[in-house]
Parts: sequence; C-alpha cells; structure tokens
Amino acid sequence: MAESITITDNRTGDSIEIPIVNGGVSAAEWTKLLPGLWFFDAGLVSTAMCESAITYLDGEAGILRYRGYPIEQLAEKSSYLEVAYLLIHGELPTTEQYESWKHEITYHTFIHENVRKRFLEGFHYDAHPMGMLVSAVAALSTFYLDAKDIFNPESRYKQIIRLIAKMPTLAGAAHRFSVGMPFVYPDNSLDFTANFLSMMWKVAEPRFEANPVLAKALDVLFILHADHEQNCSTTAMRVVGSSHADPYSACAAASAALYGPRHGGANEAVIRMLTEIGSIENVPAFIESVKAGHGRLQGFGHRVYKSYDPRAKIIKRTADEVFEVTGKNPLLDIALKLEDIALSDEYFVSRRLYPNVDFYSGLIYQAMGFPMEMFPVLFAIPRTSGWLAHWQELLDQDSKIVRPRQLYVGAEPRDYVAMAAR
Ligand code: CMC
Repeated sequence: MAESITITDNRTGDSIEIPIVNGGVSAAEWTKLLPGLWFFDAGLVSTAMCESAITYLDGEAGILRYRGYPIEQLAEKSSYLEVAYLLIHGELPTTEQYESWKHEITYHTFIHENVRKRFLEGFHYDAHPMGMLVSAVAALSTFYLDAKDIFNPESRYKQIIRLIAKMPTLAGAAHRFSVGMPFVYPDNSLDFTANFLSMMWKVAEPRFEANPVLAKALDVLFILHADHEQNCSTTAMRVVGSSHADPYSACAAASAALYGPRHGGANEAVIRMLTEIGSIENVPAFIESVKAGHGRLQGFGHRVYKSYDPRAKIIKRTADEVFEVTGKNPLLDIALKLEDIALSDEYFVSRRLYPNVDFYSGLIYQAMGFPMEMFPVLFAIPRTSGWLAHWQELLDQDSKIVRPRQLYVGAEPRDYVAMAAR
C-alpha cells in the first residue's frame, strides 16, 4: 500500500499525490494544486505547526519521551536541572558540562533589585501570584536589552540561563508578596529545588533546610512538567517567538497561556472538586452527576492521551512518598475512590478517559503547603526550560512568522450609517 494520499480537484480534474511523512502530509505540497484554498482547523487539532526534535508523545500508547529518553527513566534517575540541560542541548551532559551548567544557573538566580522594588512590590496587596509572574517575566525584557539580539548565540544562551535561573526567584517573590512576607534572596549554596523551597518558606533561620523527600518530590514534578510538545503555552511561545520578539516577552506570553484554567489551572479545579465532594460516600452520586452531563470529572481525560497519562502514574507514586512526610492529604481517599469507580465505569472506559497529570499533582502541592494560587506558578517554573528549547529550535529552523488564515463569517459589505440615523 502506498504511503501517500491523492487529492483531486473536482473542478478541474487535476490531482496530486502527496507522501505521508511521520503520519502527516505537507500543506506546502497540496497548496500547489489548490492555491488559495485552506483548511479550517479550529484549535489546530489536526495541524502540525512545526517540526520538532524535543519531545515525543504517543497518546494512544501513553508514551512520553524528552529527546528520546523515556519520562519514567528521567523521573527516576535524573534531576530537573539535568533535564533542562537535555531539553536545551539535545543531549545529556557529561559531568563537566553539568557542573558548568549548574554553576551558570546557580549564579543567575538573583533578580535586579528594581524588579522586586518597582514591579513586584508595586502590585496590589491581594495580587494573584501568577499574574505577578506573567508581568515580572515581561518586565525582565526591559532589564536585559541584549536580549533583543536573538541571533547572537552568546546572547541567546545568556537569556536562556537567566530565565531558567530567575523563574523560581520570581515565583518565590510573588508568593511572599501575596502573603505579606518579606522577600527571600536566593541561597546559592542550595540546589535548584531546595533553593526555591527556601525562597518560599524561609522565616528567620540562617539557612532553610528543605525536607529532602519533599525537595526530591518537587524535583520529580518539575521533570514531569518540563515539556509536553505543542501544548497551548508552548504554542504561544512559538507564535510570539516567530515574530522575533525577545525571549522574556515570548515567555511572558507563554506564562499567560498557562494561567488559564484549561491549561495550568486544572489541578486547582481537581482540589475544588474533591473538596466539594467532601467524603467517600458522596463519590458514586458525583460520578452519576458527571455522567448525566453535570460538569466534568476534573483531572480526567486529555486531548492527546487516550490511555493512562504516563506522568500521572509517576505522580501517584510520588504522592505516597510525600504523604509519608506530610501526612495523608485528607482528599486522597476521595481521589482514589473516584479513580477506582471511573476506571471501571462504562462511560469513562468507552470514552477512554483516564487520570491525567493534574489528578494527583494538586494533592501533592497542597500537602506540601502550597496555596492553590501557586499551582500554575509551580507549573511555569519547569516549563520555562521546555518553552526555551522550542524557542531556540524555531530560531534555528528560521521558521516563518505564524500567521494563520481565517474563515470569514462576518457581515457583507455595507455603507457607514451616521450615528443619528442608526
Ligand atoms: N469528565 C467527564 N466526561 C468527559 C471528561 C471528563 N473529565 N473529559 C471528556 N469527557 C467526555 C466529553 O463529555 C465527551 O463526551 P461525549 O462524546 O458524550 O460528548 C467526550 O468525553 C470527549 O470529550 P472532549 O471534550 O471532546 O475531549 P477533548 O479532547 O476536547 O478534551 C479535556 C480534553 C482535557 C479538555 C477534557 O478531557 C476535560 O475537560 N478534562 C477535565 C479537565 C482536565 O483535567 N484538564 C487537564 C488536562 S491535562 C493538562 C496538560 O497536559 O497540560
């Protein structure tokens, strides 16, 4: 059987055969036959916007790999900083490369005092930390004017280091401000995740010692969230990056996309749902109400995963380790019962709805003491390395500015009517 499709223009009888490559066909080929005719693909559900060598995802089989390495192996054996290196460079680092990468990131964690004083402290007292993060990342572009030099490899690399390093500092600062606590400066003697926890929780002790189990668990969550190919925020990064904006502005756009409840906010919805259910006895009735069309089972289902999200499996194990330290999140039993019923219920089975990454992550964050407003911020910290890997890739590919077509459905031409006559 030929690995191609044939398109015939019935108006002219002309046809064209297009090879199927990696499961897709090239629009550049079929537009030769049909110039001016375009696909209507709302939500870009069937459109590959780019070639990418960063993340492989097979939603049918539940496979996720960064640069070819299975997510399960990375979560078990690697660290977030090493994974960030892998995403950016394409290869795992040698000891020497890793030490230098770690050194670079560690020594770029400080933010300019004016970012704190003039921007972060300028927000209203009850500002949402994710809103603060989005704005603070955009503000960074005004501090690093060299960031505009995006085709200078040295400058490009420097901004990548700065962004990965400063994200936890901005995140910690946003949290501290939103709860009225003083800013905590980075402690460069700590590793990436422990340093972030110090900037979150330190009070008056000279050095904050994070619980190693919790620091490790957060590091695993960072690995799992580091990239997920062409999701909404990464697409935002690519769209803005394609106009050759500086990486801070592009990252601010990506963070803004992540702010939405359909993307970075689903784990918060899970916690709200579990709290509303209240107890195990109410689970069957809740499932029935979902099946009757009253709302959705939050943390279940995925646009691309039609089997168990591989990240959810790892997170479930991580949750057990965290609860050993923090005590069990009281909502866990409700979550387990929900999963148990849903996985054997015809409604969910036939629609191939399985727990996704957000089903358990919120429970872990909550048990660790993070307020719900911080959940999307916690997502943005590691996803920054994924966004930047895609940004770098699109610049290397010299990709076109993203400018899709539309299907115009508005008014026909009409004459302007003076206000008094309307
Ligand atoms: N609970 C109940 N029914 C559901 C759910 C759910 N969570 N998800 C999908 N369905 C049903 C839906 O009603 C539809 O049924 P029918 O065919 O009878 O109309 C069918 O399954 C297909 O749903 P869809 O809305 O066409 O699927 P989608 O691919 O557009 O939506 C989704 C994917 C993630 C938006 C959706 O599954 C959902 O709303 N899940 C709950 C929210 C959630 O957990 N979001 C986090 C996603 S993971 C984040 C990340 O990876 O970054």
